[in-house]
Parts: sequence; C-alpha cells; structure tokens
Amino acid sequence: MTSIPEAIPFLFLRLHLITTVAAAVPIVAVVVAAAAFLYPGGIAWFLSRRQTHIPGPCGLEAGFCLAGGAAHRVLALLCRCFSADRLMAFSVGLTRFVVSSNPETAREILNSSAFADRPIKESARELLFHRAMGFAPFGVYWRNLRRISATHLFCPKSIASFGDRRREIGEKMLGDVRLLMRKHGEVDIKRVFHFGSLSNVMVSVFGKTYDFGKGEGMELDGMVKEGYELLGSLNWSDHLPFLWWLDLQGLRRRCRVLVGKVNLFVGRIIEQHKQTRITRFEQAKGVAGDFVDVLLGLEKEEKLSDSDMVAVLWEMIFRGTDTVAVLLEWTMARIVLHPEIQYKAQAEIDAVVGSRGSFVIPTSQAFITFSL
Ligand code: HEM
Repeated sequence: MTSIPEAIPFLFLRLHLITTVAAAVPIVAVVVAAAAFLYPGGIAWFLSRRQTHIPGPCGLEAGFCLAGGAAHRVLALLCRCFSADRLMAFSVGLTRFVVSSNPETAREILNSSAFADRPIKESARELLFHRAMGFAPFGVYWRNLRRISATHLFCPKSIASFGDRRREIGEKMLGDVRLLMRKHGEVDIKRVFHFGSLSNVMVSVFGKTYDFGKGEGMELDGMVKEGYELLGSLNWSDHLPFLWWLDLQGLRRRCRVLVGKVNLFVGRIIEQHKQTRITRFEQAKGVAGDFVDVLLGLEKEEKLSDSDMVAVLWEMIFRGTDTVAVLLEWTMARIVLHPEIQYKAQAEIDAVVGSRGSFVIPTSQAFITFSL
C-alpha cells in the first residue's frame, strides 16, 4: 500500500496533467474552429467525410449573401474572386453546395445520376412535393411520373390539342396590354405574363380557365403566390438543424395553412373530374382531356392515390407558371436592349400576320427559336 507522503508527487503530476489538458482544450477548440472557418468552401465542407479541395469562400459569408435578392450575381462575383469558374464550393449552415459558371460542367452535373436526388427542403416536404416529380427520390415512382408526364402532358399531340385555348389566352393578354396602356399609359408586363402563364398551365393541367380578379381565380392566385414565397425563402432550419423545432421564420406554420387550402381546392377539382371524366377511350377518339383526366385514368401499379395526385398537379402549377413568365419577361428585356433583334422579330411577325391582322400562335419550335 502506498503511504500518503509517497502518493503526493503522483497527485501533483496528475493535477498538473489535468490542468495542462484543461488549458489545452480551449486552444485546440479555437484551432479547430479556425480551421473549420477558414476551410475552402466553409464549415459544411470541413465537417464532410469527403473533404475535397474545391475553391470557394470560407465561413458562412456565402450563406448570408444568398439571403439577399440577387443571389446569382453574388455567386458569379464570388466565382470570379476565387477563380472558380468550373466549380465553386460553399456552405450554408451545415449544407454543402457547389455552383458552376461553366456550361459544360453544368451539363455534366444536370446529366449525372449522382445529382438526381435533390435534397428536400422543409417547405417542399410540408407542401407535399416529396410525392411529386421534382423532389421524388430517383427510383421507380419518379420514373413512372416522368413517363406519364412525357407521354400525356408534354407530347406534341397534347400540346397541339390545347392550341385554341392558348390562342384565347394570347388574345386576352393582348387585350389586357391595350387596356392597361389606355388606362395608365404603362404596362406592368410581369403581371400580364404571370396571369397568362398561370392560365396556360391551368388549362392544360386542370382544363379550366379562371378570372384572377375574383372568387376561385383570386383564391388560386393567392395560393400560388404564397407557395412561391414559401418555396423561395431561405429557411435557416434547412441548414441549421438544431433550429428546426423553433420554426423561427414561421415557414412551417404557413406551409401547413397553405396545404390545407390546396388540398381543399385541388381535391374539389379532382372530385369534379371524377364526375365528368373524359375517358381514355374518348381521348383516343380525339377528345382533348386534361392532365387530371390522364391521372384519373391510370390503372394497376400506375394508379396514384388522391393525395399523390394533389402533389403532382400542384407541382405542375408551380413549375409551369414562373418559369414561363420569367422567360418571357427576360426575352422582352433582351429585345428592348437589342433594337436590331426587335426589328427582325417585328419583320417576321409582319411577314406571317401581315395585312390579315389576325393573331397567329407560332408553333412551339418557332417560338423557342424566336426566344433564343
Ligand atoms: C420556359 C419554361 C421552363 C423552364 C426554363 C424550365 C426549366 C426546368 C429545369 C431547369 C428543370 C430541372 C431542374 C429542376 O428540377 O428544378 C425543370 C424540371 C421540371 N419542370 Fe420545367 N421548365 C419550364 C417549364 C415547365 C412547365 C410549363 C412545366 C409544367 C407544366 C414544367 C414542369 C417541370 C417538372 C415537372 C420538372 C421536374 C422534372 C423531373 O424531376 O424529372 N416545366 N424545369
């Protein structure tokens, strides 16, 4: 047995070790934190098991920049600063991001199955989009939805069958422009495109047109706007999971309110379609059915539940409204900046419409060529 006087030096040694370790802990913590903070691409890349050396901003600055309005400009600037044209890494909280300003690299990323699964945001999950196409995991369900959409919604026959409805929408847009010019002397073209594009999606997906100034149309527009705001918000609990339960920005609460309204609205349309459905047989005979008819006509293993149908239909509205409206607005802005293109487009339209003065809807191919 060791006597007390003999044990005293060991006691001192142990105490000395403990105090040395205790003193070293904060230093190590500061060094690790500094390394994490200064790591190219930021903290999320430092913590990742697959640490790579893609250039990019350290810390959290890129995340804060994204919270602003013009994220694409900030990212382009950062890419130039870090000479990271092909690939730049950055962190938003604990989420790793890569961005490319190079078309070849962007194409490789978009075509690679490694990037097929997009991480689902809380708002997308709450709004049920994990059951729709864009956020569904890469697999049988996603492939099935993709095939159904390609065959029945985006095929040339289906696009052609809605030609007359598109003509009506185009004429209404022109009428709105004329009216606004007469009333105010200027036109908020973004709004005109937004409503035109929303009408176009509603016609091909739900087979219905709406007056967005009142009743159901107004309700629909409110829901679409709220949905865009929720999906477009940078939700910090997506990237800082420890904040999840706090719902600091109130997005979860708003999503749940919206989902209740959407379920009622789209559910009502599905019910109406069940009563007056255009069957596959009728569609085969040339009667134009809409996408709800197509989904209701699915059988056996392809059959979707009503809640999955709501998600798929609702996603089409989101995917198809702003994309088209923004592309048209951008085309207009480019045309304004390049008068020579404007003259050329005007000459082409005059050559087709000419003195007949009728409104001609160009084919999708011609329009795409014209837009580009
Ligand atoms: C000019 C207009 C459009 C542009 C520029 C555009 C662009 C894109 C892009 C880049 C993607 C792939 C990236 C992503 O998953 O977010 C995508 C996916 C998708 N778009 Fe569009 N889009 C347009 C119009 C539309 C319209 C009108 C609809 C429906 C009516 C639509 C429905 C979809 C769907 C369902 C997906 C998901 C496909 C999948 O996950 O496999 N888009 N779109």
